Amino acid sequence: MDWGMQNRLNGIITPNTNRCVMLAVDHGYFQGPTTGLERPAETVAPLLDHADALMLTRGVLRNGIDPGVRVPIVLRVSGGTSVLQDDLSNEDLTVSIEDAIRLNAAAMAISVFVGSSHEKETLSNLARLCDEGQEYGIPVLAVTAVGKEMVRDARYLGLACRIAAELGAQIVKTYYCDGFEKVVNGCPVPVVIAGGKKIEEREALKLAYNAVSDGATGVDMGRNIFQSKWPVPMIQAVRSIVQDGRTDAEAWDLLQSQMG
Ligand code: 5RP
Repeated sequence: MDWGMQNRLNGIITPNTNRCVMLAVDHGYFQGPTTGLERPAETVAPLLDHADALMLTRGVLRNGIDPGVRVPIVLRVSGGTSVLQDDLSNEDLTVSIEDAIRLNAAAMAISVFVGSSHEKETLSNLARLCDEGQEYGIPVLAVTAVGKEMVRDARYLGLACRIAAELGAQIVKTYYCDGFEKVVNGCPVPVVIAGGKKIEEREALKLAYNAVSDGATGVDMGRNIFQSKWPVPMIQAVRSIVQDGRTDAEAWDLLQSQMG
């Protein structure tokens, strides 16, 4: 692998542990002012010291994040639809490679919608983005977006993850499911999981623990951190599982000790 590409990946996935805690705050790109992200800069600031990477759009990056931060930026570069549409799969590339370079992106994130009405376009977008990333040494994170009509099972998610890796993605983001080890075993690149909708803190810690126990490289978690009443203790607890090898029970004890 090219030095620049490897160097960027090493910034996101800690080489010693081969693990990653990524904080996702890109939800506004199709959801608008998501609960907890009305003022993303204020939400994100106290969390950054505990994240290995920050996933967001260029709008929030330019308007809310101090250029002095040391956290690697995973820049969302796909979009073009909103929650007002029934079909969210009609995405395009929304950021040029030149702008991603200008913003010093450590990686570029794109959603693919396998099995959707726009499967071909989103997979072609991924392939094109991987070509551009390869040219300039910028890794691509493929997000396996799941339409309402799809079942989040190991067969479907395994298919979507494998296709994303085959087309050139260096990291794949997907959802946890029963039989998750099959998803990871079938994917030749690191897999991170999304947290999904806000659930109880105890359950979210279990989710993170199960995912890394089944082979995930880590999490790219958003709502279960920034919508928690205890966002900093929550990201610290997730980090203790992903990076320090704690169990979910140990992480829960840690979190409870800080909940007051
Ligand atoms: C949307 C995304 C989000 O970043 C992702 O869903 C992660 O956030 P959460 O943990 O809140 O699910 O990629 O397509």
